[in-house]
Amino acid sequence: MDLETFTPGSGLLEPRAALRSDAPALDLNGTWRFRLSPTANVPDDFAQPSYDAADWDELPVPSHWPLHGYGAPAYTNVVFPFPVDPPHVPNENPTGDYRRTFDLPEDWTGGRLRFEGADSFARVWLNGHELGFWTGSRLPAEFDAGPWLRPGRNVLAVRVHQWSAASYLEDQDMWWLPGIFRDVTLTRSAADVFVHASHDGRLSFEGEGGLLSIPELGVADLEPGTEITLDVEPWTAETPRLYDAVVTFPGETVSLRIGFRTISIVDGVLLANGSPLLLKGVNRHEFHPERGRAVPYETMRADVLLMKQHNVNAVRTSHYPPHPAFLDLCDELGLWVIDECDLETHGFGEVDWRGNPTDDPRWAGALLDRMRRMVERDKNHPSVIMWSLGNEAGVGRNLAVMADWARERDPSRPIHYEGDWTCAHTDVYSRMYASHAEVEAIGRLAEDPLDDPELDARRRAMPFLQCEYAHAMGNGPGGLAEYQELFARYPRLAGGFIWEWIDHGIVHPQLEYAYGGDYGEPVHDSNFVIDGLVFPDRTPSPGLIDLKKVFEPVTFDFGDGVVRVVNGYDFRDLSHLEFVATVEAEGETVAEHRLEVPAGGGEVKLPEAAPSGECWLTVRALLSGDQPWAEAGHEVAWGQKLLAPPAPRTASATLVTFVRDGDEIVASGCGFDAETGRLVRLFGLEVEGPRLDLWRAPTDNDRHAGLEGKWRALGLHRLTHRVDDVEVGDALTVRTRVAPAATDVGMRAIYRWTLAGDGGLLLSLDLEPEGEWRDPIARLGVTMTLPGTAVERVTWFGRGPGEAYPDTGMAARVGRWTASIDELQTPYVYPQENGLRADVRWADFGAFTVSGDPVFGMTARRWSIDELAAATHRPDLVPGDRVHLHLDLAHQGIGTATCGPGTLPQYELRAQAATFTLRFDPA
Ligand code: GAL
Repeated sequence: MDLETFTPGSGLLEPRAALRSDAPALDLNGTWRFRLSPTANVPDDFAQPSYDAADWDELPVPSHWPLHGYGAPAYTNVVFPFPVDPPHVPNENPTGDYRRTFDLPEDWTGGRLRFEGADSFARVWLNGHELGFWTGSRLPAEFDAGPWLRPGRNVLAVRVHQWSAASYLEDQDMWWLPGIFRDVTLTRSAADVFVHASHDGRLSFEGEGGLLSIPELGVADLEPGTEITLDVEPWTAETPRLYDAVVTFPGETVSLRIGFRTISIVDGVLLANGSPLLLKGVNRHEFHPERGRAVPYETMRADVLLMKQHNVNAVRTSHYPPHPAFLDLCDELGLWVIDECDLETHGFGEVDWRGNPTDDPRWAGALLDRMRRMVERDKNHPSVIMWSLGNEAGVGRNLAVMADWARERDPSRPIHYEGDWTCAHTDVYSRMYASHAEVEAIGRLAEDPLDDPELDARRRAMPFLQCEYAHAMGNGPGGLAEYQELFARYPRLAGGFIWEWIDHGIVHPQLEYAYGGDYGEPVHDSNFVIDGLVFPDRTPSPGLIDLKKVFEPVTFDFGDGVVRVVNGYDFRDLSHLEFVATVEAEGETVAEHRLEVPAGGGEVKLPEAAPSGECWLTVRALLSGDQPWAEAGHEVAWGQKLLAPPAPRTASATLVTFVRDGDEIVASGCGFDAETGRLVRLFGLEVEGPRLDLWRAPTDNDRHAGLEGKWRALGLHRLTHRVDDVEVGDALTVRTRVAPAATDVGMRAIYRWTLAGDGGLLLSLDLEPEGEWRDPIARLGVTMTLPGTAVERVTWFGRGPGEAYPDTGMAARVGRWTASIDELQTPYVYPQENGLRADVRWADFGAFTVSGDPVFGMTARRWSIDELAAATHRPDLVPGDRVHLHLDLAHQGIGTATCGPGTLPQYELRAQAATFTLRFDPA
């Protein structure tokens, strides 16, 4: 049965480039008749023109049927959701029958039916005649429709099976979403063109019978195979210069946008147009929260704009060729692209790679077919700089088949594949999630050698990139700045691609966004599909905001009265930017100047400032005019320098004495429980006093680093607080021991409260660990709660506006910020620790202010840590009637242990002796 063959298709025309043509074409997207059957075993009489499908449902094309109420989506990362028994597929094989009619005028002759993408196996009939079948979900397929077309009404029928032998080649980490999910057209275009345009102006093309013209360059009727040299501006992602060209064939004219650029590898360095290229990339799956991989054009454009606005310069099309329009956008707006073949066989890893199609000659044709269809379709895009053989498909002889063909067909682009660390078939050395230390070693050419000296020598001469690093799942990733520093330091390191661009959360009526398991899948990988830099609705997460900072193409080195502005662009100067220096005292702007920065960068004198109080200078690089991807004024980069430290706070000489009053100990509107010594009233406001807290709602990274398990085993989430002594006098001293049950580790915590004559309530908390604390702890701070109505907004002077943990928050700058309690939350799709504001000097909560000595970390929520830790979807977080305020001395870093290294040692938080000082003042 075809469904279980190794053959990729039948009746298909040779693959060719995606081209805009003036040949007549009919858009066959729209509403089709649709019927879903639970198995493949259904008569195909529906393909006959006489069949009456009037009582069928309707389904839009392009779309995925599970997102329209037929069956349900299912998510797995690595494992196959069916037995590994290639090429066999389950009997339960959802099968969608599609049918539509279209009308042709009398004079219409010939044409091709073109399908841009159908998942995973489709068979097509035109007017009752079977044209063939195809596989390769994210690859185009064309059939000659000519002999079967007729004037007037035509009937097109397509049967799509969810599972086929080809499913074994499509085990990417994403939702299983069958259907015709990309465009369908009938076109009379048959042309194919392959343009060769290098940065030095050399131009030629392949295209039997065509003549190429570029009016702007005075090129007219160039014949195929003839090379000319032109005076051109090269294409780069920073300067995406395109030239409009047409190729005229006897029957049609196709238009192209040519970019002149050259990719090469010299002395182990990746070069574009002869200059080193540093990839600041992201991995992009095609995803829309309601439409899955049927991504509307505006959404593709939004992705590219967002990437450009966040200093991203490269995309890996993980793990399949994207919709062709996406690559047009990359050409136009400027992104370097690794175009990846639609191939992943990761689930064979579960069975020690037995039967892996990558190494089974019976699959060679199918794998080659996939490579050919990608390369032929996308070969004219200047943005595409490498071909990737696929992702996580193990090793094997079919890689050679794919790579050899691609190299011969297109010697201009290096071959990428991560799954074979010997790099036997690639031109670049690519890895995923290598630690900082390993990347450093590779940068220094000091990596562990391969067993085979020849392969080792070959690999050592290759540039290195991380096709995936810094896993953006939940809160994080941490460690971005440290990676970037390495990429910038070693020429061999060509940068990398963050995993991944978007959270694949599907809009859900109760859960807001669904992930694996939410549709009752028996086998699934839970929220591992929620690991993007943008939330499902494409709101940037703090990870993307940080990435923008880390990827900045301009940097500022501050000296005494001067700033050295460094041009970090690979291919352009700074003349499109303007530079603004702002002086802020306590976060209030006191002066603003424009800086004259030479186009090449350099040292610039800073304006004199006469600061008072803590004073910061911020220099910002802004677009001076509109760019196609952002408007004038858009901030590209910034740097900050402390001009004047805060004046030391003079302590009030007088102290108010605490006195016992019934069950309470009181002074100046503040009250403490006499027995526990815990604060119950703060300047008249009822509170549950600050007490030591070592726990946070585990992040995805905490969980995968094994920390959540250790923390829970130790009992950080269930500390007991024993009061040993409450001593009243000028100070109120409360001696406690804080410890979890069932162990002998604990913390001596001594709260020392004083009330200054000027009204300030001071807390000095002395901490001393006891016993053997083996693992990092989550946080070191205090938690208190307040009536929910007491606090609406917070204004603080410290880092902001967004969250910042020890190894994240590069984008958080010192300033004065205001946010409501709701705005302080980062709405991770899988709720977890979030929203920490770092280095807060003071925070004004309306009813009172808190100051640090010198700083503290601040989180404020309408739910408790335990409620946050128990939540699995956003709607689980229901505001209660208290505000939970967490004031922290320190936090454990975030790391990227969901995939990759955990928190770097310098960002780990160990139980340690410490003193934490806070001051509360009335409003
Ligand atoms: C990689 C894989 C990606 C994704 C990631 C984890 O191994 O290539 O597709 O699964 O891990 O999110």
